[in-house]
Amino acid sequence: MKQLHVGLGERSYPILIENGLMAEIGKDLKVRGIAKRFIVIADTTVAELYGDAVLASLAQAGLPTDLITFPAGEASKTLATVAGLASRLAQAGLDRKDALIALGGGVTGDITGFLAASYMRGIPFVQIPTTLLAQVDSSVGGKTGVDIPEGKNLVGAFYQPRAVYIDSQVLRTLPKAELLNGIAEVIKYGVIYDSDFFCFLENHRTAILSLELPVLEQVIETCCSIKAKVVAEDEREANLRRILNFGHTIGHAVEADSGYHLAHGSAVAIGMVAACRLAVAKGMFSVAEAERLTDLIAAFGLPTKIPSTSSRDRLKAYLLTDKKTVAGRPFFVLPTAIGQVEITADVNDSLIDQVLTV
Ligand code: NAD
Ligand code: GLY
Repeated sequence: MKQLHVGLGERSYPILIENGLMAEIGKDLKVRGIAKRFIVIADTTVAELYGDAVLASLAQAGLPTDLITFPAGEASKTLATVAGLASRLAQAGLDRKDALIALGGGVTGDITGFLAASYMRGIPFVQIPTTLLAQVDSSVGGKTGVDIPEGKNLVGAFYQPRAVYIDSQVLRTLPKAELLNGIAEVIKYGVIYDSDFFCFLENHRTAILSLELPVLEQVIETCCSIKAKVVAEDEREANLRRILNFGHTIGHAVEADSGYHLAHGSAVAIGMVAACRLAVAKGMFSVAEAERLTDLIAAFGLPTKIPSTSSRDRLKAYLLTDKKTVAGRPFFVLPTAIGQVEITADVNDSLIDQVLTV
């Protein structure tokens, strides 16, 4: 089993990665003594696929466990869902010594983490991520929360899990479009932090797309170890953690402008290419390296161009309402080399106009 460590003092926790880990989770939870009783929170799709396996693993370890579900999809990531789940926890008599298990993708992790942060002012929770996006990104780092009509992730809390259990086998049932959402984030790690990993992705594209588990495990381990280092240095996104937003400034604008019909991974892919164009125009990044990134994104089957249905003015309006915009200036994470980025608000309007012109 591979084990990584997120070093946050008394809030530190392990990330455990192994094929077939699902069956071992009960035993490990028992050894760690996180709680005597657990409630698994899962969306209906994941509950159907993996609910029984997790319940059986905890039952074998003698840990009483129940499962509560909610409808799959981003539309469930609301305060109303959290309120409904909190009532279910109270009705089940869950107390401060009990714990939650987030079994699912980023939606489940964000909802369950926020529920754990607020139920009885905080109970422990662990993550069992089942999408590639959740395994390489959202299950690590403690960002939890829900959407409100005014924007995505606008209500939430930093609240770290007690452990993260990653079983790459579950990716076998993941639809291709969901896999690609995760791949956009995987490519991001190569650009922001690790040029060797970027080369690895160039050389192992076919193995990744055909779900060769040892290769996928290596990908997950590298991404989690980068995320663990970044989060340990800057848990609350005061500075370094902002590099994880590479591709997300323009990406979020494109995603919002599509009415969230465009997949998040596609929007991030488009955002990463747009950030490269800004960096090249500012003379910070070479044309050759920008082409390398664009080629890798395209080779994975992700889009590279802003959709023709978008409009520059609408995209600019979205940029100005983004959480990354301060005093009317959007912040960009721009590459200076593959494996290295800079955070800057020093991008003039005409350049932004040029890159956003459809
Ligand atoms: P998701 O949780 O909605 O999962 C996507 C779909 O895949 C769902 O329909 C789900 O039922 C299904 N699914 C999950 N695992 C499966 C499996 N193994 N087999 C078959 N189907 C499976 O979406 P997501 O892409 O995992 O996460 C997106 C969410 O994550 C967004 O809300 C985003 O804001 C959030 N996010 C959070 C962070 C963070 O740091 N907290 C980071 C990135 C994204
Ligand atoms: N996904 C970005 C972060 O966790 O900071």
